[in-house]
Amino acid sequence: MKHIPWFYGSTSLAIALALTACNAPTQQAPASSKEAFVDSVLATMSIEDKAGEMTQLTLDMVCVGAPYALEEPHRLDTAKLQQVLVDLKVGSILNCGGHAYGPEQWHGLIGGIQEAAAKKSTGIPVLYGIDAIHGATYTSGSVLGPQQIGLAATWDTALVRKFAENAAMEVTASGIPWNFSPVLDVARDARWPRFWETFGEAPKLVSDMGVAMVKGYQEGPAPIAATLKHYVGYSRPLTGKDRTPAWIPERQLRQIFIPPFAAAIDAGAASIMVNSGEINGIPVHVDHHILTDILRDELGFEGMVVTDWEDIKYLFSRHMVAADYKDAIDMAINAGIDMSMVPTDLEFPVLLAELVREGRVTEARMDESVRRILAMKYDLGLFESGGVPPSLADYPEKSTIEGAAARAALESITVLKNEGKHAVNAGDPILPIGGAGRILVTGPTANSLNALNGGWTGTWQGTDTKYNTPGRPTAVEAMQEVFGEDRISFAEVGMDFTDADIADITRNLNPFTTQCAVVFLGEMPYTEGVGSVEDIELFDNQQNLVKALHKRGVPVIGVYAGGRPRTLANIEPLLDAFVMAYLPGDYGARAIADVLIGEFNPSGRLPFTWPRHASAHLTHDRKHTENVHSDFSLNAFNPLYTFGSGLSYSTVVPTPLP
Ligand code: GLC
Repeated sequence: MKHIPWFYGSTSLAIALALTACNAPTQQAPASSKEAFVDSVLATMSIEDKAGEMTQLTLDMVCVGAPYALEEPHRLDTAKLQQVLVDLKVGSILNCGGHAYGPEQWHGLIGGIQEAAAKKSTGIPVLYGIDAIHGATYTSGSVLGPQQIGLAATWDTALVRKFAENAAMEVTASGIPWNFSPVLDVARDARWPRFWETFGEAPKLVSDMGVAMVKGYQEGPAPIAATLKHYVGYSRPLTGKDRTPAWIPERQLRQIFIPPFAAAIDAGAASIMVNSGEINGIPVHVDHHILTDILRDELGFEGMVVTDWEDIKYLFSRHMVAADYKDAIDMAINAGIDMSMVPTDLEFPVLLAELVREGRVTEARMDESVRRILAMKYDLGLFESGGVPPSLADYPEKSTIEGAAARAALESITVLKNEGKHAVNAGDPILPIGGAGRILVTGPTANSLNALNGGWTGTWQGTDTKYNTPGRPTAVEAMQEVFGEDRISFAEVGMDFTDADIADITRNLNPFTTQCAVVFLGEMPYTEGVGSVEDIELFDNQQNLVKALHKRGVPVIGVYAGGRPRTLANIEPLLDAFVMAYLPGDYGARAIADVLIGEFNPSGRLPFTWPRHASAHLTHDRKHTENVHSDFSLNAFNPLYTFGSGLSYSTVVPTPLP
């Protein structure tokens, strides 16, 4: 990744380091000034300094209060700063303390951290990392666009790159230079709870979108370091549940799961985060073949490799492949890990230093990792800026950076069905909704901004409304804006609504004065293990609501807010229209309403195959033998909607060939 000159903060640190470095023993002039600088800093570092650089702790470890239960307002603890940053020389901090902060609070936290770091003997600034996966997700009031599954549905790499550039401007303005994004896992199993964090099922689409996002983050006006995750094969657990074992033959690994990482590495990605799971019986965090033979020797990756959350400790506490923590560190570092996302213990750097002194991890191996970390800090200009956040006066104006998010929300909306056999003027497509009749709006995702944003929004699971940006409309509010309040009658239901609620809705419904019903289906936010499921059938109550409205004689339009294709084959025939909104972000409600009224001609195309039945999920690039049906035909592949599906409102009349 090219060197990023940050234009603020004092250069005294750089001078100080250069002076310190001057005392370092002179070496043969390496190839570049970066290598010369890194080597000069490395030469001044003790084993403890180096072990600290390879350590990443979560913000909680330097704040007042207990991890995961900090005292509000979240603020730095002087004693913890001294212990973590000066005594233990920890080189990286990540995350928020459980919820989003305003830019000012971010500046106070990161400024205080860098001030403390400057007191350690090497003075090396801290590298701060965050999960800003669909905009600056942990900065209050930031621009939040579609999650990756929706970005993929735009098939518009130029727009995705612009969206990432704009996101980087807010992440940078918060004082954060490293983003744990994009996800380059390929979504092959609708059950997998992080399906929505991917760019879908097709390696080529994932690759192209991944390259666009990496370039957007790293080559825009305010560059940040991208992180390719979760290398590799994380999205294919046998059970479909997060972080359970995967069995992936090397041929499939190389055909489907590695190519997006290869493409983004070639695009210059700065870092890689490792898959927490195991492949073919080996936890990836200790798989030298994957982490070194393939990643370094074959793909030529020269950047920094960071573990996922607590994944070295999990080698003995979960995977049980290590005798103890120290053994786990030995295995992971020697397999090719550069930095441990510890993130809530203080033992890691101490044990690592012991391992080096005992020779179980060579200092040469340690130096490889520390060089990569220092090089990344150099590329981000941290040695020049000291990691000091930029002036709040330079915080980007929303109006200058929200366009790409709003446009991506519009372009992501995918109309999968548009008929009219139940409509008043039977035969004509029911969308766009014309006329002037009343529209019933209902369904559990109709009045939730959280349902449109998904996880990693304000909080990890994205479920807390307290951190939503005030004024961003929900779907029903946008429909009221666009169609006019007098046309909309709203029957609010929560996720657990009952048959009694359905009876109330249908009882109060006059089918003769109700032009149609728009039912907002789908899921509420989740991420990681919280989203693991036993079955991907759409919830019974949502199916019963559609059946009851259909039975009442009202044309029904289904709009799905969610990031994985739950199956709804039983009710799909009852819908006149079906619209996939994915997780469109803060501008998603308006995008949905603009498509429904015809203000925007839908152009979204499905980036995955929508299974008809939960147990029959195949992808577009299936094998021919997967077409073989129980009736000896070749019709076994019978998804609800195929990969690439999507309707527009324009009637395309192909001109006859001459
Ligand atoms: C989580 C996720 C990963 C994220 C990391 C830091 O466990 O697996 O995607 O970047 O921790 O928050």
